[in-house]
Amino acid sequence: MMPTTCVVGLQWGDEAKARVLDVLSADADCVARSQGGNNAGHTVVIGGETFILHLVPTGVLRPQVLAVIGNGVVVDPKFLLEEVSELRRRGVEVGENLRLSDRAHLVMPYHRLFDGLAERRRGTGKIDTTMKGVGPCYADKAARGGLRVGDLYQPDLFRERLQAAVEEKNALLRGLYDEPELAWAPIYDEYMDCAQTLRPYVCNTEELLLGLLDQGKRVLLEGAQGTLLDIDHGTYPFVTSSNASVFGAMSGAGLPPHRIDQVVGVMKAYTTRVGAGPFPTELADELGERLRESGKEFGATTGRPRRCGWLDLVAGRYSARLNGVDCISLTKLDILSGLDTVKVCRGYRIGGEAIDSFPAALNELETAEPVYEEFRGWPDDIGRARRFEDLPAEARSYIEGVEEVVGVPITMVCVGPEREQVILREDRQGRAGHTRREQSDRRGRRPN
Ligand code: IMP
Repeated sequence: MMPTTCVVGLQWGDEAKARVLDVLSADADCVARSQGGNNAGHTVVIGGETFILHLVPTGVLRPQVLAVIGNGVVVDPKFLLEEVSELRRRGVEVGENLRLSDRAHLVMPYHRLFDGLAERRRGTGKIDTTMKGVGPCYADKAARGGLRVGDLYQPDLFRERLQAAVEEKNALLRGLYDEPELAWAPIYDEYMDCAQTLRPYVCNTEELLLGLLDQGKRVLLEGAQGTLLDIDHGTYPFVTSSNASVFGAMSGAGLPPHRIDQVVGVMKAYTTRVGAGPFPTELADELGERLRESGKEFGATTGRPRRCGWLDLVAGRYSARLNGVDCISLTKLDILSGLDTVKVCRGYRIGGEAIDSFPAALNELETAEPVYEEFRGWPDDIGRARRFEDLPAEARSYIEGVEEVVGVPITMVCVGPEREQVILREDRQGRAGHTRREQSDRRGRRPN
């Protein structure tokens, strides 16, 4: 990896980013989360043991890595402490290696409550959120009514802001939702309790990260969700409430753009979506069911079945261009093994017109008919392939076909859930026309 590498999802989340992050973090000094909250579920499998991380960065699973929760993340403190306890119970060390931004916003109990109430009000137009309070928390942040981690250590200020927030929420509970009011005092007590336990982790993480970079350390930025769920660039309003693209990585970690050396886009070999919203290549049939079962496509946070479909490269190209990705990690290729034919969507037909760009208008996406390119499937189990040449010719053609449409080299291919089930294509040219090794050398760093 390059000194600062940002890992972003190119689809609707659940691209197996954590699996890629886990591979890359072998070479990192720090892994920092920059947006989202415990709506994320990041799954890493090590020696048959599955870890699902929600708020704690995946780097915590590597002893040499500092795990940082950046200013752009929204943090449910009780949930975070439970996650830390659970990790410790399973033998993962969490202490000095975890840092939490004092600027990160706090998810409050009323955010979780209003997540549910807003969904109820939306009725059939509901977004199908994860109900973790993430959207209402970001809404309060933007409305300047939020509470931040640092506020926990100024109890008078915290109480004052909490009372004001609860007063406003109670007006909505009474007037709009016909629901019982909340009392601020129990919330205050609960958050003051959490404050004490969280204290050792809290610091100015922007300074910390810049300092690490000044010392020549390697920082991995861990994206959550995916570009098509980005509040600005996704399928609005069926999106999450943060910038789940490279743009959120900068503001949410507090790093200037020129300090980001490489953007790795993660793309699953097929497409999934959890929750409502348009999905042109969805397979609402037996094949979709097969992908769901063999890919274990059930939400890591909510357990909800994910909608499955063919790889949509109109969306993939859009996301790759938007994020300026230097290379792609293609995940879960093994799940496509055993199919006679494998398809990718190269374009849409909308109202009879051929389109190869990703439209903003939901009604266009909802009516888009995918135009597919077919590839021959491969029967073999590919889980033991460690070099590109080990893959069946049909799987190689598929990978090369995806590269050709997206216009970005695929430098990593995942062929199973375990750490070692990965193909690293060191010889592939990066977008700047240098191999990854040359890129590292040019900066005088040790190549991976
Ligand atoms: P929220 O982020 O809980 O507000 O949910 C908004 C939308 O984003 C819903 O469709 C969720 O299913 C989706 N979403 C949120 N987090 C994730 C994730 O980590 N993976 C996939 N989808 C997500």
